[in-house]
Amino acid sequence: MERLVVISNRVAVPKARGVAGAQGGLAGALNAALKQHGGIWFGWSGQESESAADNIHLQRNDGVTTATIDLSSRDVDEYYNGYANSTLWPLFHYRLDLTQYERETGKGYERVNERFAECVTPLIEPDDLIWVHDYHLLPLGERLRARGIANRIGFFLHIPWPPTRLFVSLPFHERLVRTMLEYDLIGFQTDEWRESFLHYCRKELGAEVEEDSGAIMFEGRTTIARAYPIGIDWDHFQSQGESDEARAAEQRLLDSTRHRTAMIGVDRLDYSKGLPERIDGIGRFFDQHPDRVRDLVFIQIAPPSREDVQSYQQIRMLLEQKTGQINGARSEVDLVPIRYVNRGYSHAELYGFFRAAKIGLVTPLRDGMNLVAKEYVAAQDPDDPGVLILSRFAGAAQQLAAEGAGAVLVNPYSPDDIAHAIRVALDMPQAERKARYDVMIGTIRDDNVQAWTRRFCEDLAATRND
Ligand code: G6P
Repeated sequence: MERLVVISNRVAVPKARGVAGAQGGLAGALNAALKQHGGIWFGWSGQESESAADNIHLQRNDGVTTATIDLSSRDVDEYYNGYANSTLWPLFHYRLDLTQYERETGKGYERVNERFAECVTPLIEPDDLIWVHDYHLLPLGERLRARGIANRIGFFLHIPWPPTRLFVSLPFHERLVRTMLEYDLIGFQTDEWRESFLHYCRKELGAEVEEDSGAIMFEGRTTIARAYPIGIDWDHFQSQGESDEARAAEQRLLDSTRHRTAMIGVDRLDYSKGLPERIDGIGRFFDQHPDRVRDLVFIQIAPPSREDVQSYQQIRMLLEQKTGQINGARSEVDLVPIRYVNRGYSHAELYGFFRAAKIGLVTPLRDGMNLVAKEYVAAQDPDDPGVLILSRFAGAAQQLAAEGAGAVLVNPYSPDDIAHAIRVALDMPQAERKARYDVMIGTIRDDNVQAWTRRFCEDLAATRND
């Protein structure tokens, strides 16, 4: 098996490991991928330092070698807070209203991609498979090629790819996609995002595209684009579920919500997650069923994320305001309808909380996949499972809500739809909950992160047949 070199902006360095914090799905998934495959993981340390020296910090832990570099505060500003998270992230989540286009941050993005290429090149051996991840590093493959790296290079996008009509609002969009066609294989979470990418290549670049195989022929090179829906680390998550920590967390939630149904949401505090809209839906439910305030308690775990970016500061304020309004209007001296928590928990604790909660609410406005939806279901008691309420705009909906079974699908923009789904979930008989759980659990268990890694790496190794 070829050695794997994984490159991503965020690296799960050991001190952050085990604590979910605000990490998101990428770091956990890549950690599992590397444990399985062996190899090295290169990326940003998460630290800022101004020293010009390209110090690479190597660390070995649990069979995974991480190699990280610090970024200067200007790099963090322009590349991470700027182009990646104020331009690409909102644009790729269909939020043109929040997208900023600044030439300076675009230059910073290119500069940091070049720096990544420069620092990782000496670590690459001729037979390595190189696997680049996510929107921070779209042009990295081309930067590596410019340094003479002839290895197979794959890329996986963890977030949606926007429709062509939105994407062309990005200045230099063509230049960016041309760089991506230096990859041998490009993976997307769902067919929907893959089709948007193929559409762009055909319409805007005039590339020759084979729909079925995903082959894109352009200027003498072939790139393959396919969908690889990411999964959870099933075995690891189940082993966490067997720990004392998980059992204690479950008991803690059950003890504190006696006689009431616990409904849970766990999301990074991000506008793509539809949190204010979710709170509006819960408010609508209480307006329609005031007598049920004593039946239901909603727990929203929302660790803050990307706090230096203005749109994140605004969404946090809005959420605090909406939560405060509902709690002010609906609380009693002995009862608070919404518990809003700005911190992360370990995987074991989340497992326990999920198991104690009879409804999981996952209602992003747009999401590449959303692994919380899968984890919620994975933590349920198979004989008495809870109900997953899932946004039709999460990538996970394609796997978990096939043909009207599985998750209860909602339009996250509609408070009435969310309110209705909550009522349906609260009143759902055990037999239907079990039937819906049975539809979802097979794909969650089998299409796990190890299967995802295997599929992508096998396909990458098979590209180019040279
Ligand atoms: C999403 C992105 C990841 C990112 C994670 C956490 O899942 O796809 O690339 O690492 O969010 O965000 P952060 O900005 O803290 O890395």
